[in-house]
Amino acid sequence: MKHILSARQFTPDYHAELFEKAEEMRLKRADPDERRVLAQRHLGLGVGIMFYEPSTRTRMSFEFAAGYLGATKAGSENAGEYSSAIKGESIEDTTHTIGKMAAAMVMRHKQTGAADIAAGQNVIPVLNGGDGSGEHPTQALLDLYTIQAEKGRLSGLTVVIGGDLKNGRTARSLAVMLSHYKGNKLRFVSTPDFRIGQDIKDHLAISGTGFSETDDMYTAFEGADAIYWTRLQRERLESIIETEDIPLLPPRYDNAEQAVELMWPHMLSLTQPDEAKPVPAMTPSHFIINQAALQVMEHDTIIMHPLPRVDEIDMSVDADPRAKYFDQVENGLYVRMALLDDILKDV
Ligand code: NCD
Repeated sequence: MKHILSARQFTPDYHAELFEKAEEMRLKRADPDERRVLAQRHLGLGVGIMFYEPSTRTRMSFEFAAGYLGATKAGSENAGEYSSAIKGESIEDTTHTIGKMAAAMVMRHKQTGAADIAAGQNVIPVLNGGDGSGEHPTQALLDLYTIQAEKGRLSGLTVVIGGDLKNGRTARSLAVMLSHYKGNKLRFVSTPDFRIGQDIKDHLAISGTGFSETDDMYTAFEGADAIYWTRLQRERLESIIETEDIPLLPPRYDNAEQAVELMWPHMLSLTQPDEAKPVPAMTPSHFIINQAALQVMEHDTIIMHPLPRVDEIDMSVDADPRAKYFDQVENGLYVRMALLDDILKDV
């Protein structure tokens, strides 16, 4: 049974095949006759789409992908509350239930390893739509597809990956995928508290992929082929705060502004989860991609982001031809159509 669980499971050959199919999907979607034919392709099959964490792009692109291929989709966009999970049903039982009705299941969950639990039931192909601070393999596939489309290659690249690398699952999955190609160099940009996990560094070391870590965004940008920027995963920090009782404003900072500049976690003290209050800047100013940052990039550097963006890329950057984050969204649709087609054709 084919599951999509981790960036580690794919080979460059698999990527090449998948991207060829994604390209085919792109062309077919652009042709009204082909589009109608495509919409007959998996008629009568179902895809369960269970999201226990918020999502716009991943959930909607899976839903559109299933529909554009003729499959029926059902599930929940707030499965933690609107599915039987709230009554205490286990992931195992939910998987067996969906397995009786559908041909594949897409799942996003706040718990790292949740998709592996579902796949372990072996009743239905499971696609991991993001599991806690673990992995987001389908996002990394579309990121890779975008790099291939824009740069024409996936090896010998210098890629900057920045932001909350400790909690951001897309950065983790992308780093792993890039390490499966020769000659790539990764530059990780974050504050020391948000460095990428040791498990990823070990994977890079084993595969012989060179990497460096810095908190100097400007130096890292010099000569880069691609910059992959991510947001602070605030929702994951809140759960840490609840359990570990981290002091909100450590005494070594003289004022709140200084704290914002120096350390992300402590910014939570300034961003009360009170909807009525305006949310102040989330990102320290030296981690915001703005017009000044564009000046140090090469003319052909591409700027990527899995989205959602909060304030770590200034909106004025969107008009720059190097900004590719909304193209990534469209590419995600074709990549997910290719993935679902590949899985549904075996049913
Ligand atoms: C990401 C995620 O959910 O991990 N979003 C996405 O799927 N494009 C990134 C994020 O939430 O920061």
